[in-house]
Amino acid sequence: MAAAVETSAGGGEYLLKICCMGAGYVGGPTMAVIAENCPNIKVTVVDLSQKQIDAWNSDQLPIYEPGLLEVVKKSRGKNLFFSTDIDGMIADADIIFISVNTPTKTHGIGAGRAANIKNCELCARKIAEVATTSKIVVEKSTVPVRTADAVSRVLSVNPGGIKFQVLSNPEFLAEGTAIPDLETPGRVLIGGMQTPEGLAAIETLVSVYAHWVPREKIITTNVWSSEVSKLVANAFLAQRVSSINSISALCEATDADVAEVSNALKFDDRIGSKFLNASVGFGGSCFQKDILNLVYICESLGLNEVAAYWEQVIIMNEYQKRRFSGMVVSRMFNTITDKKIAIFGFAFKKDTGDTRETASAFVCRDLLDERAKLEVYDPQVSRETMLMEMDYTLKVNDATYPNMLDSNLVTATDPYSCAAGAHGICVLTEWDEFKSLDFMRIYESMAKPAFIFDGRMIMDHEALVKIGFEVYCIGKPRGGGVRNGPAN
Ligand code: NAD
Ligand code: UDX
Repeated sequence: MAAAVETSAGGGEYLLKICCMGAGYVGGPTMAVIAENCPNIKVTVVDLSQKQIDAWNSDQLPIYEPGLLEVVKKSRGKNLFFSTDIDGMIADADIIFISVNTPTKTHGIGAGRAANIKNCELCARKIAEVATTSKIVVEKSTVPVRTADAVSRVLSVNPGGIKFQVLSNPEFLAEGTAIPDLETPGRVLIGGMQTPEGLAAIETLVSVYAHWVPREKIITTNVWSSEVSKLVANAFLAQRVSSINSISALCEATDADVAEVSNALKFDDRIGSKFLNASVGFGGSCFQKDILNLVYICESLGLNEVAAYWEQVIIMNEYQKRRFSGMVVSRMFNTITDKKIAIFGFAFKKDTGDTRETASAFVCRDLLDERAKLEVYDPQVSRETMLMEMDYTLKVNDATYPNMLDSNLVTATDPYSCAAGAHGICVLTEWDEFKSLDFMRIYESMAKPAFIFDGRMIMDHEALVKIGFEVYCIGKPRGGGVRNGPAN
């Protein structure tokens, strides 16, 4: 008897079957949006982690992303599936996305700089091992330029002599806005080999996105340009943050106001209005990793001036984080030993629970070094996640900080208990809820003088000064730039 043909929710045969390897911040949301917009395509997201897949199959998704659960629920069980049957789903698919993590190497050649593409290679080996028909393999992960070559070579040694086409389709979503970024992307980039087979594969992937993305926003290039463009896009964005952060230091030294300077820049449409918010420093799993990767690639190619140019973006970011910690210590009379300091926000930006490379961790480490007692409140970050990040990125753990973390690095479940009895508050993530707290109540519960250090420039500095706080922030004079604030 012939095998039953799988049908889509609409009753027809599936046009295509997609398998995505990696159910993380990129794999989950991108596939949910493809499934939502392409009911005639079957999308299955697979992962090595059973826990991760179980969470995707529940209403407690493994990541916090506004609007994501609603999008997942529209298609889950219809044409969107989450599974650990990696072999079965690879064998069944026409298109396989590789969307696994590519973190900075922690050991060996290029440690601390090069991206580790071990997981991508393992995916390619698995595909080569289990595929019995030809497939389009899509690099969705951010990878060093020429990774498509490595992936192709690994695929080409498959036992069945099957032909694969490798495409580069980097993802540009930002966390916290992943769903709108995916629903109405600024552009979709698809790179492939410029051969008849490569061009046909590009067209197949274009036809998937064309379900909801206007054709003129789908850019096609050669595969290497696509790989390079992803690294460069992140480098340019991070460069803007470092540029405005460098100017914040100048503003503090001259009584200029960096918010006013950014605003003046934004009116020049050659400069543009985005990514000009001075901050305690950029974080996240991409900017630092991808720039370090770019720097490493340039160094490896002997392009030392190019490498040094981009490395400066990272150096400026380190400087900004250190400068913020230094401001806290110096403004609190050069000692914070045993002082309670409330940390408002640990995620690397608002609307995500992601803490990778968060500037908040660096400030916490610096303040712990001064023996402050830190209490951290973040609406989406648990103590376990916070401690994992402190350990992974900064090697702050029970062995390196003996007898300290249980007493000096605790978490609170609400901002009021977090601030009670504190000498100072550091606002390190721009969560909207911080703007509407009852700061009179918070002030009354704090030790005096009560300090606020705004690392995100989101607070109403004038109102805080009126309540009685001493307010400091990035890129502004004392008093948060309030003209009638306390004199310097
Ligand atoms: P992540 O750590 O959230 O998820 C990666 C997932 O891949 C994990 O669940 C892991 O278990 C799984 N995995 C690892 N090896 C596997 C294998 N061999 N088979 C199956 N599953 C495997 O990572 P992420 O944030 O989703 O990033 C993925 C890639 O996308 C990275 O290259 C990253 O640079 C890039 N990227 C990330 C973002 C972002 O905002 N996070 C944006 C654009 C691009
Ligand atoms: C980034 C890119 O924006 C996205 O296109 C890419 O796919 C992944 O990397 P993400 O890291 O999720 O996205 O967030 P993003 O909004 O870019 O912010 C990165 C960091 O820069 C955050 O810590 C943010 O707070 C900081 N930032 C951003 C500033 O400090 N000032 C700004 O003006 C903008």
